[in-house]
Amino acid sequence: MSTLSEAVTWLDRCKEVTAFVVGDPIRDEYVFVESEGHTGHLVTFQQMRRKIYLGGMDIFVEHMRGYCGIVISVVWECSQAITKRRYVLADNHKVFSVVDKTELMPWAPFRVPPERLIVAADYGHGVIGNSEAEYLAALPNSLAITVQSNSLNRGYNPLTKWPRADYLVVNEDEIRLTYRDKLSDLKPLIESEHRRLKARTVVITRRDEGCILYDGQSWLEMPAMAVNPVDTMGAGDAFLAVTAPLVMLGASMETIGLIGSLAAAIECESVGNIPVKRAKLEKRLEEHFGGKYPHQEKDEKDKLVEIIKQVEIEARQLDEKMEAVRNRPKS
Ligand SMILES: Nc1ncnc2c1ncn2[C@@H]1O[C@H](COP(=O)(O)OP(=O)(O)OP(=O)(O)O)[C@@H](O)[C@H]1O
Ligand SMILES: [Mg+2]
Repeated sequence: MSTLSEAVTWLDRCKEVTAFVVGDPIRDEYVFVESEGHTGHLVTFQQMRRKIYLGGMDIFVEHMRGYCGIVISVVWECSQAITKRRYVLADNHKVFSVVDKTELMPWAPFRVPPERLIVAADYGHGVIGNSEAEYLAALPNSLAITVQSNSLNRGYNPLTKWPRADYLVVNEDEIRLTYRDKLSDLKPLIESEHRRLKARTVVITRRDEGCILYDGQSWLEMPAMAVNPVDTMGAGDAFLAVTAPLVMLGASMETIGLIGSLAAAIECESVGNIPVKRAKLEKRLEEHFGGKYPHQEKDEKDKLVEIIKQVEIEARQLDEKMEAVRNRPKS
């Protein structure tokens, strides 16, 4: 994708997509506190304010409503959200987290017309178990998934729970944990997962190191694009939510990588989970295409080096002339 108008055309095309979102409903509550000092080992904080952000499958729905034609949230009567409460200092540093409820009810299978996109936000809290993942994977629909590892499910929510998916977005820890491989080269793990899922595209996000994309033939590495990251929670979710319709529509890895990384950057630049609005994303795309590409920067650097060389030559010539003037025999 080489122009802004191509990027905007891809975003316009997302309106053709009807998406069903399924997964764990989560509320991310931030309690902003200030330390009041301590007595012995007991630290006292003063609560300044609280804010509840939609998380889990609900934030996927919010993100995707800004891009897709129709977004349907698959919730069922017995479902209940899990609340994750974080205590946060003024500098956005999270001190600790408290969770009210850890197990959510699995859902009853639902019917989806085949041409619809299904996005599964699997946080491993009970909504999508093995049989639910198998049910979704057996449908003929385009299926985009994230399979999250967190402190409540660590080691119990492997990617292998999903027999198939067209599109997978997880972070590096999540794929390494599945393969129980902490250190070896990442690419063979990605190739293996791509093959196992019969996926079209796999994206592995790597925090401030950006992400790596694979489509079965080529690789693409994208740098992180956040200018001033203040809270990275939900950045991977924003990446998947905004790019899932693009993958279904057949966009290139360059399009997916760029739009996903800019969506993630926008998410990192605000506190809590904020839906990535299309207007903001378009502004970032404009800046990207209006800004300098690495090769332009190199050309400019080369030009600058030439100018400096020229100035040095002229300065030397001037010195020589001055020297000649000084050495001229006095008449
Ligand atoms: N510290 C950071 N600085 C700059 N960009 C970041 C940072 N952390 C994340 N990002 C951006 O967000 C993308 C996704 O981040 P990350 O790897 O943290 O996903 P994640 O762990 O799945 O996040 P979450 O599960 O909270 O949604 C990265 O590929 C990168 O573009
Ligand atoms: Mg994630």
